[in-house]
Amino acid sequence: MADLAVTGSTGAVGGRIARTLADLGIEQRLIVRSAERAPRLDGAEVREVPGGYADPAGFREALEGVGTLFLVSAEEAQDRVAQHKAAVTAAKEAGVERIVYTSFLGAAPDSTFLLGRDHWATEAAIREAGLTFTFLRDSFYMDFIPYFAGPERTFRGPAGNGRLSPVSRDDIAAVAVQVLSTPGAHDDATYGLTGPELFTLTEAAERLGRYTGETYSYVEETNEEAWESRRPSGAADWMIEGWISTYVAIAEGSLDRVSGDVEAVTGRPPMTLEQTLDAYPELLSGDLPG
Ligand SMILES: NC(=O)c1ccc[n+]([C@@H]2O[C@H](COP(=O)([O-])OP(=O)(O)OC[C@H]3O[C@@H](n4cnc5c(N)ncnc54)[C@H](OP(=O)(O)O)[C@@H]3O)[C@@H](O)[C@H]2O)c1
Repeated sequence: MADLAVTGSTGAVGGRIARTLADLGIEQRLIVRSAERAPRLDGAEVREVPGGYADPAGFREALEGVGTLFLVSAEEAQDRVAQHKAAVTAAKEAGVERIVYTSFLGAAPDSTFLLGRDHWATEAAIREAGLTFTFLRDSFYMDFIPYFAGPERTFRGPAGNGRLSPVSRDDIAAVAVQVLSTPGAHDDATYGLTGPELFTLTEAAERLGRYTGETYSYVEETNEEAWESRRPSGAADWMIEGWISTYVAIAEGSLDRVSGDVEAVTGRPPMTLEQTLDAYPELLSGDLPG
């Protein structure tokens, strides 16, 4: 029976982690909402919990016998913190001793980036449960930079001239694999996972332009303009507020940080924007990356 359980293996980060662990010959239990969509991997047993974190009883049962859990943060939802807390309680009750959780850079109870508050609350729940933890505080995904510009190749938002250092999902997964496969080496550590360098959205547009030969730009919006340009999407207000807070957090400088943690943990420097695009040219479609 595997001592390690991995959530999110039907997604990008968890999928990369599960595949790499399998390649390393490490046994794992994949806890998924749909067994049909689970990757088929050597040394991996699959447990289906259709309700995911919102089904604490099912999640607890799926975790019986597991010592370490990789807990991927759930998709955006108004009750996301409640789901995360339920998952942590279920893990504790099942006998899990260690959780490796994907958090967010600078997670705090008053983060300007609103989802950073959810991550802080989840970290607090893991600490309060008395579990050993490693928090992977990811910056924004490098993979999403072209998507932010969209098919119009224009970044729009109240980001001022703030800088950010996005991190590729490959690097997040590489750190997670290292942490998961070396028990004891990263206990109670909190890592800030960023890319190798800072750039503004104006500089991101210039770099995408140079890389593709197309014209990219950044249009700074006021808060009001940001609401006006996003309302037609039909998304709920809480979601739009979350999206806009992404840009406000960039403007205020709360993402203006390069950490050496990716290299310290994996032994290799994090990927640049261009290296990420070389590895995943499909990101340039401007669509939401899968
Ligand atoms: N730092 C950033 O810029 C950034 C950007 C986007 C997302 N994120 C966060 O990072 C997480 C991982 O990113 P990713 O790129 O791997 O996302 P992804 O490709 O959308 O994968 C998300 C994974 O989480 C699972 N999941 C989502 N909600 C769940 C729930 N309530 N209960 C159980 N499993 C659930 C999904 O399962 P299904 O396949 O069944 O849906 C999927 O396997 C995201 O879920 C999100 O919280 C961070």
